[in-house]
Amino acid sequence: MTHVNPDTLEVSILAPYNNTDLFQIGELAEDAFIRFGHYREFISALVKERGVITAVIRDPERDDDIIGFLLLGFIPVGGVFIADIMAIALEEGYRFQGLGKKLLDWAFETIQKVSLSKQVKELRLTVAQDNHPAVSLFKQYGFSFDRTGHLGNYPSGITASSMKIQFIDDELEV
Ligand SMILES: CC(C)(COP(=O)(O)OP(=O)(O)OC[C@H]1O[C@@H](n2cnc3c(N)ncnc32)[C@H](O)[C@@H]1OP(=O)(O)O)[C@@H](O)C(=O)NCCC(=O)NCCS
Repeated sequence: MTHVNPDTLEVSILAPYNNTDLFQIGELAEDAFIRFGHYREFISALVKERGVITAVIRDPERDDDIIGFLLLGFIPVGGVFIADIMAIALEEGYRFQGLGKKLLDWAFETIQKVSLSKQVKELRLTVAQDNHPAVSLFKQYGFSFDRTGHLGNYPSGITASSMKIQFIDDELEV
């Protein structure tokens, strides 16, 4: 485990990205999500998608390597936007030291900024119900399991569930 002081590691937006960034994000995704399937190519392709903002944490003591990321997507649905945390991961040695919270704080600040010009109806994400650290963290931020229930399975067969925070009631939608 790499002991870090979360206050010294910054969240920054990955723009522009280069091949090293994409490679490091791909490797991190492959390791962090291996229980669910192979995500190296999928996640690095998502980083390039329009409508996806990628935040990263780099370690200055390791040549500024990317040691964590969060991919935040905005999907237009019927005149409003649904925000989606498409992926969040930290390199293994950097977990459980508050960096997940830093990434989520960034996501909420970003949604607040976007909400000044666009209506963001809800924030959602997909998680395995037995992923205790992730579920516990998301609940602390106000996420609850969506009543629509299971979304299907990850490639490995593990059940994927949807969690969300509703910002605008369905009836109030314009
Ligand atoms: C999920 C993840 C991003 C959370 O970030 P993190 O920085 O590790 O999160 P935190 O330090 O805030 O810890 C979150 C929770 O994990 C649990 N936790 C803490 N230390 C732990 C440990 N050593 N072992 C297991 N769980 C632990 C706690 O419940 C903690 O919540 P608490 O603060 O209420 O006690 C990170 O663990 C990760 O990258 N996991 C692998 C990838 C993944 O599963 N991503 C989510 C897919 S949806």
